Amino acid sequence: MNIEVKNVFYKYNKFDKDSDYDIKDISIDIFDNDYLAVVGETGSGKSTFVQHLNGLIKADLGDILVDGVSIYSKSFDMQNLKFRVGLVFQYPEYQFFSETVIDDVAFGAINMGFSKEEANSKARDALKIMGMGKEYFYKFPFSLSGGEKRKVAIAGILIMNPEVLILDEPQAGLDPISKKELFNTLNRLHSMGKTIIIITHNMEDVIENAKRVAAFKNGRIITVDYVKNFFINNESFDNMNLEKPEQVLFVEKLKQKYVNIDLHKLKELEIIDEIREKIKL
Ligand SMILES: Nc1ncnc2c1ncn2[C@@H]1O[C@H](COP(=O)(O)OP(=O)(O)OP(=O)(O)O)[C@@H](O)[C@H]1O
Ligand SMILES: [Mg+2]
Repeated sequence: MNIEVKNVFYKYNKFDKDSDYDIKDISIDIFDNDYLAVVGETGSGKSTFVQHLNGLIKADLGDILVDGVSIYSKSFDMQNLKFRVGLVFQYPEYQFFSETVIDDVAFGAINMGFSKEEANSKARDALKIMGMGKEYFYKFPFSLSGGEKRKVAIAGILIMNPEVLILDEPQAGLDPISKKELFNTLNRLHSMGKTIIIITHNMEDVIENAKRVAAFKNGRIITVDYVKNFFINNESFDNMNLEKPEQVLFVEKLKQKYVNIDLHKLKELEIIDEIREKIKL
């Protein structure tokens, strides 16, 4: 699925004519099978932006085209877009409304027209992918820990088998093993052809997993680039109040010593290979 965002503006406070838009002039193309990291300071508009992509928030100005068709045109099937573009909220409890975990996860499949039995079977599979066994099925979703809630919320989206999966800070509250498993799952879904859009403050996660970065500042997109270009000698990165990740500092230092090191190799394994190759370790 191809998503073209064209000059989108949105503000929450419609009644205050003088207030500024919360996101402004947002334009970006999201490709089929993209893996996009959305980064930027708190309050820069990341969550507001992604909620436009499945129609949850409607742009005040501008347009969004899915495979060339405006999602705001009368004939566009908005309900279907919510199945095709799955969004896991920043605060997962916003997504819960059932008494049990299994019912909550099954809800999306029932909405899509599956029988209760089929939906439950799919829910068990989706929870299993998120590492949650039957001991969780009949718990009250609101009684779970932060990380568990997040896993249930992700399972509730995975069950719809969306073409595009958007996750708003999904790693928050997850322990290191759960986080690694989450990224393994996302990376597997990506290799199966899905588009992944992830909001994160963690630059290591961006380097290790994403293909492209969209950087937000004060409600605007200030840069969209491939991960490798974004971190190296990028002015937009430098004025974003983001700390340079360890990998980048390390590669920059290496480059001062060994001029022929390829600066664009940033993943841990790539760096190791590059050093082996270039300094014949
Ligand atoms: N429900 C809302 N009602 C009114 N204003 C809102 C609402 N949600 C967000 N805003 C405002 O819109 C702007 C962008 O907020 P948004 O939540 O999109 O930022 P963010 O980049 O996701 O931040 P964070 O990293 O803290 O999650 C902020 O100024 C915020 O105060
Ligand atoms: Mg947010």
